[in-house]
This record gives sequence, structure tokens and C-alpha cells, in this order.
Amino acid sequence: MTVQEKLGQLQQLTWTGDTGPGGGQTAETEAAARAGRLGSVLNIHGARNTNALQRIAVEESRLGIPLLFGLDVIHGFWTTFPIPLAQAASFDPEVSRRDAEVSAAETRAAGVRWTFSPMMDVTHEPRWGRIAEGSGEDPYLNAAFAVAKVEGYQGPADGSRLAADDRIAACAKHFVAYGGAEGGRDYNTVDVSEQRLRNHYLPPFKAAVDAGVATVMAAFNTVSGVPAHGNAHTMRTVLKDEWDFGGFVVSDYTGVEELIAHGFAEDGADAAALALTSGLDMEMVSTHFVDHGEALLDAGLITIEHVDEAVARILALKHALGLFADPYSDESAETTEPTAAARTAARETAARSMVLLKNEAAALPLDPATGSVAVVGPFADSTDLHGTWAGPGSHRFPSVSVLDAVRETAPAARVTHADADPARAAAAAREADVTVVVVGEDPALSGEAAVRSDIGLPAGQEELIAAVAATGTPYVVVLVNGRPLALGGWLDTAPAVLEAWHPGIEAGHAVADVLFGTVNPGGKLPVTFPRATGQIPVYYNHESTGRPYNPAHPDEKYVSRYLDLAEGPRLPFGHGLSYTTFATSDPVLSRDDITRAELEQGETVDVTVTVTNTGERAGDEVVQVYVHDVAASIAQPVRRLRGFARVTLEPGASTTVAFPLGAEDLGFWTNDPAGTFLVERGRVDVYAGTSSTAEARRTLRVL
Ligand code: NOJ
Repeated sequence: MTVQEKLGQLQQLTWTGDTGPGGGQTAETEAAARAGRLGSVLNIHGARNTNALQRIAVEESRLGIPLLFGLDVIHGFWTTFPIPLAQAASFDPEVSRRDAEVSAAETRAAGVRWTFSPMMDVTHEPRWGRIAEGSGEDPYLNAAFAVAKVEGYQGPADGSRLAADDRIAACAKHFVAYGGAEGGRDYNTVDVSEQRLRNHYLPPFKAAVDAGVATVMAAFNTVSGVPAHGNAHTMRTVLKDEWDFGGFVVSDYTGVEELIAHGFAEDGADAAALALTSGLDMEMVSTHFVDHGEALLDAGLITIEHVDEAVARILALKHALGLFADPYSDESAETTEPTAAARTAARETAARSMVLLKNEAAALPLDPATGSVAVVGPFADSTDLHGTWAGPGSHRFPSVSVLDAVRETAPAARVTHADADPARAAAAAREADVTVVVVGEDPALSGEAAVRSDIGLPAGQEELIAAVAATGTPYVVVLVNGRPLALGGWLDTAPAVLEAWHPGIEAGHAVADVLFGTVNPGGKLPVTFPRATGQIPVYYNHESTGRPYNPAHPDEKYVSRYLDLAEGPRLPFGHGLSYTTFATSDPVLSRDDITRAELEQGETVDVTVTVTNTGERAGDEVVQVYVHDVAASIAQPVRRLRGFARVTLEPGASTTVAFPLGAEDLGFWTNDPAGTFLVERGRVDVYAGTSSTAEARRTLRVL
């Protein structure tokens, strides 16, 4: 390969043709493919489109190296699954595995072998719109869902199934700490200690690498002053050297060029040198590697080893994906719509992702034999409940609306509808036996560059709920949103509230399944819901201050609190109700102490919890185990999730679940930039229950 051909492999351009968003580089892309100055293309799909472009690369370029096509398939290609944050609320990684498997088959059939998913950016920032794309505020939960997605897209960690016609390469993003953006403002600065980086932001990426993730995408933010795209510490030292990551690192969209705006690189050539030497392998959209690579080599500012390493990583993935064996996609095998099975998976996973926030006096489930139902609110008849970063299917296949699904589920009922107008909604409510109020956020209010400074319900919606409440007709509130919301005073009086998130293509069906009790909800919050926007950041796994609030002395002045807010979140991490009730036993430890030497050898302590369905319906509970290292050389979070299990139990039935705690669960990373993981002697409190506020506790001693 000539140097130009090598540099060409490091280039990814975007295409529009008749599929992508505006601003594409289609003519430039075709010319680059012909000249052998192109390795990859994003935003193209459709086997006819990918084959046409592939033919140029394979048949007209000197070496005929096939292109790798990539696309953001975040929660579905044709079949839109619930948004990733919703999936995390299922506390069942199988939900994400199903999404990834269906997505992989649909995407691969459309000529695309690489998705820019999963996103695993842990965040404490509900203002940040991209909270919708990840698994919330906990590293352990994010890691579990990241692994399920990587496996669902790719198959086994050894990459042996990557070339199969129902698999695609995954991309762990955004590397790293993107969720730490100050103020939740997208792309904003992140200043993070090494211990916070390693304990909090890196674990999902490490888990994804261990699961064999093929690629990693750099983040738009700085990491302690050094932009992620030029960060040798994170990309080279941690990812490639320490973790031995064998895939390649792709930039985010124009991320190399943005090193200039960051005030880190002087110009494009400088940006290319900084990115490449720091471990970035492929440049998305901006063209500084190909434009300046040769001059940088001549000047000795990069070495040919840097270039060769990147090329080898990229070609290795193309090989593993079977592109050299068969660069084309079978146009006759292309699917054009969701299959019935895929729709069923979308419906079941959406229902499984919903969280019953409140249910007074068994207001839910509704009786399908109810005489009349009013379905009101700005999203009552919405057919766009796909959520942010929905795939091509979202343009062709509308979501099932809640209104239509209620009509279907309660065929004998008189179902009426009113929109967002409070007076009309109240009029409809007055005539009905029960009212379903569907409020929340338009999908455009979350996702990339969709940041809100106030995360309450958008204007007018609380008034709408109040107007319905004032009629005296029983009502239930369904929330459709892409982030935690600061729920107003109405939450105190609403009889029942169901958090449905943005549920995807089968939205209405899934909502109706839960409202009418075909599905008993069992999801839990993967994020804390604050009392007010001004309380942010509020997250369950925080460190303690020296002056924590003490509920036994609520009037104490010199404690860490807000004068104008009650203590604690509005709704805690891990919270979620069911139509039945459960009792969980105190946790039992298989032993009271364990030595560090034993932990080092891989021994574990089992925490067992027995959970019983004490109600009258079958249902799901999520047993959760948290640990707290009471005194450590680096103060530890007051709780850290280290185990969860969603179980289904018939009325009266019990089961015992066991969670092994090992070194990984009991230790922590220090501030050593070279990476030091410590398990210290001392007391570890182990909590178990059904939310992050679980009180049942046992103490373990590490000797
Ligand atoms: C920008 C986003 O940050 C990233 O997540 C996405 O994969 C790329 N654009 C490509 O569309």
C-alpha cells in the first residue's frame, strides 16, 4: 500500500444519496472511493446504495479494498425499540440483547455492517439530552447493558460470528466521560479526577472491551483539559495498552477538526498529528489525516508505525466482518419493514421497560370492561413516540398511538380523545369513567444537542393535569419522556403514574398492555428523579460530605442541603412498583469475613436474598444489592449497585437469588494515573432490597 492508500483507510466520509441527513459528501465520497482514499462511509443504507458505492471501491480503486459502512442504529433500524434509557429501566439486559439482535439482522440486510452503538456514558445530568441514549447514572448497570448490546450485535467476544449475515460490529461510545459535561450542556468541559474516571466512567467501556467490542468512538468533550480526541492517556494508555483493545478507535463527527476549536491544536495538521499519535485510528468527516498525513510523516511529526497500526486495526475488522470474502450485500435478501416477530419483541421490551412510579388505591390496572375512557394530553394520539436517534424505520412506520391502543384493548368502551387544551381535556374527563393523561416531552427535547435548563413538564402540561384532576373523574398519568423529569406537586395527588419513556414503534400497545394489566409492570428507575432542576446533580451513588443531612435532626443548619427543598430525591434510583406486592428477606452473607488474599485468588462472598410475591397477581421484582465501603483511603460512594436480578413470581411464590461479591465489587481505583485497584481492609456494608433506599443490611469484614 502506498502511504496515500494507507491514509485513505483511515478516512470516513458521510454520504447522503437519498437516505441520510443533509450536508453529505456524496460526490466527494465517490471520488475518494475511486481514488483509494477512503476506508469507510457513514449515513448510507440500502443494499442497492451500499453495493453501488462498494463497486466503485472494489472495482475501480487500485487495491480494491472494500469500504466499511456504518450507521447510527441506536435502538432499532426498521423496528424501533424503546430508547436505551428505557431499556435500562427494565433492569433486564435481555431487553437490550433482543433489540441488538433484531437491529443487527435488519441493519446487515440493508448493507450496513457497523453500528455506532451502544452508548455507555454514565451521567449525573438529566438536563443533558443524551441521557436518553445511555443506561443512566450507574456504572454497573451501564456495563451490564453495554455487554448485552455488544453481544447482541456481534455475537461471541472472539468475533467468530462477525461475518454472519445477521451480525454487525458494535461501537462503544463516547470515550470518555462525555456524560460529565458541566451543567449538562452538550459538548461541554469535563474535569474529572483519575479515581472518578476509573470508578465511574470507564467500567462500562472495560466491560464492552472484554465482550469483544469491535470499535470505540472518541467523545466530543475534554477530559481534564485534554480533548478526548487527542487524549493519549485515555486512548493509548488505558484503552490500547492497559486493556489490550484490539479494535479501532473512530473519531466522532468532525472531532479531529474540533481539536482546533478546543484550543488544543493550532491547525488541521496539528490536529491530525495529535489525534493519531494519541491513539485515534479513523477520522470521521473532517479530512486532516489524509490531507496532512504525508507532510506530517515527512516532518517526523507522526511515524509510519502510527499509520500502520491504524490501518492494520481497520483492515482486521474488515476481514473479520467478511468484507474481503464478500464485500456486497444480497439485494434480494433486503428487508423493508419490521417482521411480526420484531414488532412483538419491540412491544414486549417496551412494556418491560416501563416503571410504575405511583399507584394509590389500585388505580391501575384499568378494567378493560370499563364503560368509557378519555385519552387526553399532547401525546395521547401521537404516532411519533420513537424517541431520539430512531432509525430509518421511524420515518416510515409510525408508532402505535396510546389512543388507538386503548380503543383496541377496551373494544366495548366509549373512548374519547382531547388534546393538550385543559378545558377540552376536562370536558372529556367529565364524561368518562376514567381518564388517561398522556404528557411528557417531544422526542426532539432529548438526544444530541437537546439540552434543557428546566426539566419540568413542558409548559401547560401541569395545568392540563390539574384541570383533569379537578373534574373528580379518576385518572392516571402516563409519562413519555427521554430523561428524568422534575415532577411537580401534581405527583402528590395523582392516583397513578406510569413512566413509559419513549417506547418506540409499538408504544401505544405497550402502554395499553400495562395500563390494562396484560403486563404487570416491573421496571425500575435507572436514574434519580430530582425534586427540582436546581437540585441537580442528585444521584444515589454520591460520596458523603463531612456534614451530611441527618433525618433525626431535620432542623440542623450546618449540613449539606438546600434551604428550599426537602432532603433527598423525588424518586430514587431503583424505584418502581408493581400491581402485586413483594417482601424481601434481609440479606444473608455466606461468610462474615474474607481476606484480601482470598479475594485476590478470586474467592467471593455470596449475598442471598429471598423474595416473595405477597400479593394476588403474578409479577416481577428486581432484587438489588448495594455495597458501601465504610472507611477507605478514598471516600467511597454511600452506595454502589453490585448486583441485580429481575425475577417473575406467581402469587405466594418465593425464590432465593444469590449475588457473588468479589474483589471487583469490594475494591476501587485510586488516583494513580497508571491504574491502581485497591481492596482495603475494613468494614463493607451490604444492602439488599428493591431500590437504592433499601435498609436491610449486613456487614462484611475484609481482613
Ligand atoms: C455525532 C454523535 O455524537 C455520535 O454519537 C454519532 O455516532 C455520530 N454523530 C455519527 O452520526
